Amino acid sequence: MSPSLSTRRLKLNAFTADDAVELHALFADPETHTIGSGPFTAFEQTERWIAARVTAQHDHGLCWYALRCSETGLLVGNCGMLKGRTSFEEPEIGYLIRASHRSRGYATEAATAVLEQCQAAGIRRVWASIRPHNTASRHIATRLGMHVDHTDNDGLLFYVIDLHPTDLADQQVRRASQIVGLKVTVRDPGVKSPKDCCQDSPGQ
Ligand SMILES: CC(C)(COP(=O)(O)OP(=O)(O)OC[C@H]1O[C@@H](n2cnc3c(N)ncnc32)[C@H](O)[C@@H]1OP(=O)(O)O)[C@@H](O)C(=O)NCCC(=O)NCCS
Repeated sequence: MSPSLSTRRLKLNAFTADDAVELHALFADPETHTIGSGPFTAFEQTERWIAARVTAQHDHGLCWYALRCSETGLLVGNCGMLKGRTSFEEPEIGYLIRASHRSRGYATEAATAVLEQCQAAGIRRVWASIRPHNTASRHIATRLGMHVDHTDNDGLLFYVIDLHPTDLADQQVRRASQIVGLKVTVRDPGVKSPKDCCQDSPGQ
């Protein structure tokens, strides 16, 4: 994944230790950091959070981005990919937006760009684990083209999106042909057909 992206209104840069002070202001805000172990009470929690993302980027190429307003440079939130409850091969997407800047489409805008990066990086499937009461996040996941795959014992919803559905279909054809002993020719996934080129981007 590219460490720097931009969208219509946002600049996305993979987190570094230099972002810790600004990010901690978001993570320590109880109105903003309403998930997981938030709000953070100690600066070291934010430092550890960034360090884990830097390691995931170094070891697995997964990026978690600081989202900054293009015009002002203000840190409005974060969005990115991590192993989470799934795997490095099929990672989870996550997002958080400063409470004062919600319902302006920032999370959807950033997550759309991040999913496009995942697709370009060859990541086959992306997951999102969302609490049932988190209506805004569920709404975003649906707008991104994700659907609920399963629910765990705690009621956590696991949304998923196939970023390379044609490749998956090809795999299924190969598997089926092996079972019945057929010889099939499957299109080289590296060669784009006109149909691929016309496919909508995730979240559009
Ligand atoms: C979830 C979160 C990232 C959304 O950020 P955001 O920038 O406000 O999201 P967007 O504006 O892109 O989209 C939110 C969508 O949810 C809708 N929405 C928001 N609150 C809603 C609610 N209570 N009920 C129904 N829909 C709601 C909005 O209308 C919008 O949909 P629309 O674009 O079709 O109008 C933000 O609320 C947040 O940071 N929450 C805490 C962290 C979190 O929950 N992260 C996700 C963990 S799974």
